[in-house]
Amino acid sequence: MILKIKSETILKMSRYEIITPNKNAVLSLQTKRLVLSVYKPSAALAVADYLIRNRDFHKRYSQRQKEKYFTEKEQKSYLKFDLKQFRENTQVGFWIATIDDQNRIIGRLSFYSLIGGCMNSCFVGYHLDQQEQGKGYMKEALLASCDFMFKYYRLHRIEADILPTNERSIACVTSCGFTKMGYNVKFMEIDGRYQDHVMFVKLNPEVENVT
Ligand SMILES: CC(C)(COP(=O)(O)OP(=O)(O)OC[C@H]1O[C@@H](n2cnc3c(N)ncnc32)[C@H](O)[C@@H]1OP(=O)(O)O)[C@@H](O)C(=O)NCCC(=O)NCCS
Repeated sequence: MILKIKSETILKMSRYEIITPNKNAVLSLQTKRLVLSVYKPSAALAVADYLIRNRDFHKRYSQRQKEKYFTEKEQKSYLKFDLKQFRENTQVGFWIATIDDQNRIIGRLSFYSLIGGCMNSCFVGYHLDQQEQGKGYMKEALLASCDFMFKYYRLHRIEADILPTNERSIACVTSCGFTKMGYNVKFMEIDGRYQDHVMFVKLNPEVENVT
């Protein structure tokens, strides 16, 4: 019975609609409370503003960045690169806003290193505004966007690698149907050091066999 309620909740929260993107975006999904958009370089100021606001909060979970990373100019180049990768089908990098305030970015959710062939898989990474923690926003965004990636990119597998101490992130992926699959030693550079990560995976329930 508990399992049934849990899967019904996941189904409800994973609902999204593809909506007409605003002038700064090329793709937008709308969930119950959020809009997830792949932006054009013209959104660089809003992106830089979000990164500056959260610089200290994100530091211990992110790659070490140079000072210029937090400028509009640098974010414009990152957005150009993101758009190129989006067009080449190798990355889908969403920026998150609430429906009520679409000009203020409150998070990032990126599906990267998309590979096809016999793998059909990718990695996912994400972070949220410090002011917006614990409201269920990342869960809502992750559930909807994983469904989108499974449906429109026909992915078989999405991997999230998380620091063993990041309880909040582990709770978030577990709650979104990811399963712990392993432990990657010195996997990724975080805050200036290659650190161990716990590997979580979500498999597409609808892609069992290749047809
Ligand atoms: C990880 C992060 C994105 C989670 O975002 P969030 O919006 O606070 O998470 P949600 O509110 O959607 O919560 C998701 C789940 O985690 C649980 N959770 C929330 N806060 C928690 C906490 N402090 N401790 C443990 N679990 C917690 C929630 O209860 C929820 O599970 P449930 O629906 O089964 O109850 C956010 O904390 C963040 O940006 N952290 C800094 C950057 C980061 O760690 N990125 C990930 C790197 S792998």
